[in-house]
Amino acid sequence: MATMDVHADVQDYYGKQLQHSNDLKTDACCSKASIPLFIRNIISQIHPNVVARYYGCGLVFPPKLNGCRVLDLGCGSGRDVFILSSLVGAQGSVVGVDMTKEQLDVAQEYIIYHTKQFGFDSPNVDFRLGRIEHLIDEVALEVDSFDVVVSNCVVNLSPDKKQVLQQIYQILKPGGEFYFSDVYADRPIAEELRRNKILWGECLSGAVCESDLITGALDIGFTRPILITKQPIGVENKELLGDIKFASCTYRMFKNSSTKSGSSSTLSSCVADALVAYEVSMTHYEDEFQFDQTTIFKLHGKPERVSAELAHMTIISRYADNFKFSSVDDGKHILDSAVVAIKLVNRIKCNIILEEEL
Ligand SMILES: C[S@@+](CC[C@H](N)C(=O)[O-])C[C@H]1O[C@@H](n2cnc3c(N)ncnc32)[C@H](O)[C@@H]1O
Repeated sequence: MATMDVHADVQDYYGKQLQHSNDLKTDACCSKASIPLFIRNIISQIHPNVVARYYGCGLVFPPKLNGCRVLDLGCGSGRDVFILSSLVGAQGSVVGVDMTKEQLDVAQEYIIYHTKQFGFDSPNVDFRLGRIEHLIDEVALEVDSFDVVVSNCVVNLSPDKKQVLQQIYQILKPGGEFYFSDVYADRPIAEELRRNKILWGECLSGAVCESDLITGALDIGFTRPILITKQPIGVENKELLGDIKFASCTYRMFKNSSTKSGSSSTLSSCVADALVAYEVSMTHYEDEFQFDQTTIFKLHGKPERVSAELAHMTIISRYADNFKFSSVDDGKHILDSAVVAIKLVNRIKCNIILEEEL
């Protein structure tokens, strides 16, 4: 499908054909994730007309958002933007971008309502009409200006996923986090299915494989995307979809602050790990912080032995101040600052391969 056709078809699907979450024909854009109590409490403050138009497939609320500048790509009618508005607080701000006017109209209508609900003097949210493939030239967002970018069940709908990732990389601050949920397929989707507008609109036939996400992100210069949750999506249409299996996945990755512009950096050949301890509590994560599917840091618990790659992600991120980093070799404390990321990597004898782009 040509790029413009996809945009027009998706706008038609989310602007004209769907009015409420109940109008969806499959379960792909319906999150089954269990929702923590503090998020449920915020959702109870969101206007029902906004909640009724939620089409997400996961939870896109990483910890430590207070005061952050956050961008929601494909924000729809704004449910997640308003939740994030509460989480970033009066000192933070949230921008929601979507290309479907009908969706944004609903979001705009309830800005004042939620500003009052959360007790802010003035709105901390801003909705902008535009395509996520053109965040800089069309939506006029600034380079290196966001702490966190989130997206909930949207990138699969884009005809140019590589360009979306490149734009996200540009507008994130160094060390900034892209935290997102999306639909992935266990194999490449045949062209015939990709041309099916309903399957594309339902977030199925535009889905790529997780391996494509990982390769694409590393090529651009992100840290390796790490999986946080994965839930199978039950789609009952064997005749059309055969044995293809779909899953809703939530990933996080960071803008690699050690890369030079115009080059990509990959940490590889790790021969030693690092010890990482969760020392300074984050609000709502007073017991533990799940960094990825298998790595759970307990507050004041035993230091976790993690790979050099994972230690690097932690140390360049906004979470660095909450952790204490030690060398496995001698147990000596390593300064928890992004500036020493490279020192850490050297100390634990990892190779850094800087691949200059020609
Ligand atoms: C499945 S809905 C998810 C909406 C929202 N994230 C939520 O959780 O309710 C997908 C949304 O992404 C928007 N969208 C899809 N492709 C887009 C693109 N290339 N640029 C901007 N918005 C896009 C659609 O207009 C729609 O509102």
